[in-house]
Amino acid sequence: MAILKIARMGHPVLLARCEPVGDPGSAEIRRLVADMFETMEDAQGAGLAAPQVHVPLRLFVFRAVPDRLSGDEEDVPMPNTVVINPEIELLTNDRVLRWEGCLSIPGLRAAVPRAPRIRYTGVDCDGNRAERVVSGFHAGVVQHEYDHLDGILYPMRMKDFSLFGFNEELSRVPRPAPTGA
Ligand code: NI
Repeated sequence: MAILKIARMGHPVLLARCEPVGDPGSAEIRRLVADMFETMEDAQGAGLAAPQVHVPLRLFVFRAVPDRLSGDEEDVPMPNTVVINPEIELLTNDRVLRWEGCLSIPGLRAAVPRAPRIRYTGVDCDGNRAERVVSGFHAGVVQHEYDHLDGILYPMRMKDFSLFGFNEELSRVPRPAPTGA
């Protein structure tokens, strides 16, 4: 396994519309997924999409650790998980603001409008198809990672740029509670 170099905002690979994965079980994809798990853990991230490691394919990895979750029963905890060739459906028309960071935008975070509840599908490297209805943190991280596959970074989703800043500054004062979107 290897820790991969993460592309930062400004690199064109982050704006690409990614191509579907032809063979999720191939040795190349298995190696990529293993390296992405290792890279995500090394960077202490909650998710990582293939274009962030310079591979413009439709797959991402993520984890939803219990201490990040909202408490909602649909905010399902997940160990390291890969989602290949995902589809996503937003289940509500409303949006809530969620604080997010991105390994391609280091040091910053922002309150980003997201659907509170989604359904998503995808396969893993063994061809197992998953379909999940989720909310809260789990729903937010999946929307964030899915966006990467269409070349969308979280600032492109923002409406209120006053809720955008450096982690160090935002942690000095009580974090403003995002309300509506
Ligand atoms: Ni990201």
